[in-house]
Amino acid sequence: MDLGLQDKVALVTGASGGIGGAIARTLAGEGARVAIGYHEQKDSAERVQQEIEGCGGTALVVRQDLTEPASIAEAVAAVHEKWGGPDILVTSAWIHPEWPRQQGPVTDPSSMEMWQQQLRANVEGTAQAVHEVVPHMKEKGFGRIVLISSGAAEDGQPGREAYAGAKAALQGLSRSLSRGLGGAGILSNVVMPGFVATERNRRFVPPQVFERFASTTPTGRRATEDEMARVVAFLASPGAPPEQAAPVDDDPRLSTMFTMDPPRHRQLRSLAFTPATAERLAPRIEEIASDLLDAATPRGEVDVVADLAYPLPVTVIAELLGVPIDRRDDFRRWADAAIAAIGGREADGTVRAAADPAQVEVARNLEEMYAYLGEIVEERRRAPKDDLVSDLVAAEVDGQHLTTNELIAFCGLLLSAGHNTTAQLISNAVLCLDEHPEVVERLRSSPELIPGAIEEVLRYASPLQAFMRFTRKATTIAGQQVEAGQTVFPWMGSANRDETEFPDPDRFDIERQPNRHVGFGRGIHSCLGAGLARTEGRIALTTMLQRLPGRWEVPDDPPLERIPWFFMFGVKRLPLRWTG
Ligand code: HEM
Repeated sequence: MDLGLQDKVALVTGASGGIGGAIARTLAGEGARVAIGYHEQKDSAERVQQEIEGCGGTALVVRQDLTEPASIAEAVAAVHEKWGGPDILVTSAWIHPEWPRQQGPVTDPSSMEMWQQQLRANVEGTAQAVHEVVPHMKEKGFGRIVLISSGAAEDGQPGREAYAGAKAALQGLSRSLSRGLGGAGILSNVVMPGFVATERNRRFVPPQVFERFASTTPTGRRATEDEMARVVAFLASPGAPPEQAAPVDDDPRLSTMFTMDPPRHRQLRSLAFTPATAERLAPRIEEIASDLLDAATPRGEVDVVADLAYPLPVTVIAELLGVPIDRRDDFRRWADAAIAAIGGREADGTVRAAADPAQVEVARNLEEMYAYLGEIVEERRRAPKDDLVSDLVAAEVDGQHLTTNELIAFCGLLLSAGHNTTAQLISNAVLCLDEHPEVVERLRSSPELIPGAIEEVLRYASPLQAFMRFTRKATTIAGQQVEAGQTVFPWMGSANRDETEFPDPDRFDIERQPNRHVGFGRGIHSCLGAGLARTEGRIALTTMLQRLPGRWEVPDDPPLERIPWFFMFGVKRLPLRWTG
């Protein structure tokens, strides 16, 4: 996966082990040069360094004591001297009421006082570290700050208020940094994972506290260190979302069903397509898939991504909407921009501004898509045709037509939401079969198994791995308190490997029953195009099995490369040969 972290310089405090160490390794794996901050455990920090260097990464060990301003300044200076920067700061402070365990649990006033001091020192140290790195980040015009507050305290437990205060202080710090420095390309985020389910944490935390607060995935499975590290690496990357990104209802053009609440959401959702749409389109989808493969097979090798997986869904949705397909390459560029923009909105909903050249490009592409769709909407107003854009133009909600902006947003969403996702479904199906070659023949001899195979691909290699949501009000999910106004990343890819729901979850089993995966999400926002995507996936796979006979082979040189968005799973190219 490419998060765009090559040659960035990261300082990770508290990185000698546990989640800090996992973060350091993940950032280094993404190509960043990583300074591993340690307080007391130099040996462990050096072990992390050796691991990184052993994998070809670049790392440095620096002593840092978050409670000592001079020590933090020295650590930053050491990094700056060696590599310049840092342009990424990750502070990882592990704090919870059992922390001063040498003194016993926080029940007596003296250990309570010590704990409060510790919390205060952590918050102050974090602010100090920010103070040290921001001038370097300003100079570079790029900076990512990720503040981690790991740990938890139960309601009514002594110290709960002090802990909540420390968390709020970190949040406030992060929010004001993003607001004040967003224009200079510096963004800040807070991650509050509770306890990550590591053996180390299990040893340190009393069992009942561990059980209650161990970070969980949406289905209640324990989050692993590596999963948490990936979240942090994303927040440290150029595509990170702004802190407290808010729903974007106020700008109708950026406001789509994805970000809307009922009743408007329900009204708009009912306008697009019905389950019958997919089956009605099936014969045409078969025709398009055949034509695409006809054009590619004479070469003796196809690139599943470029020859079938991308062009098929975009042709289908363009025909459904009634927009000419000659702009297919533009649609792909725009759909990619729509995905990149998910991580790039300002808190007020506008696409993130200047500083980051990649975001400028994204914004430009989206403007182009909006302008193009605006023209189509105007044309259909003047002269309606038998297509979805004309139906949407004519549609009424509460006696009112949709505004031009709403129509543009709607069409833009359909054009982009089903594009990359379905492309990944088709190419991920081939990846799964490459991993399990025996399934190819089984599907050829028993095509009735193909729909089940598509469901299993959606589970095992979910195209959409995670998706951003905003909390309107405080809630508790799987024992985790989530405050109002937070950005939450439900991780469907993880839920789809939940061993409590799917026995032997890492096994690819095309006959898995039941297979209640969440590859299309769940609840009122669950995928509107699920029926269409399933039909396209089934037809694409059936056509490939028929038209590419014999054994399938995916050459492994050059190695496959992952697409750049961390919340999607798929490859950029997928060459496929067949022996028949
Ligand atoms: C394999 C392909 C696809 C996958 C994995 C996928 C996945 C998803 C997921 C997980 C969501 C829910 C996001 C959330 O909860 O916030 C979603 C929503 C949505 N999808 Fe898909 N999708 C696919 C194909 C399509 C297609 C083909 C279309 C239409 C042409 C489409 C249109 C939409 C729309 C409009 C929504 C928003 C629904 C709402 O907010 O009420 N998707 N999709």
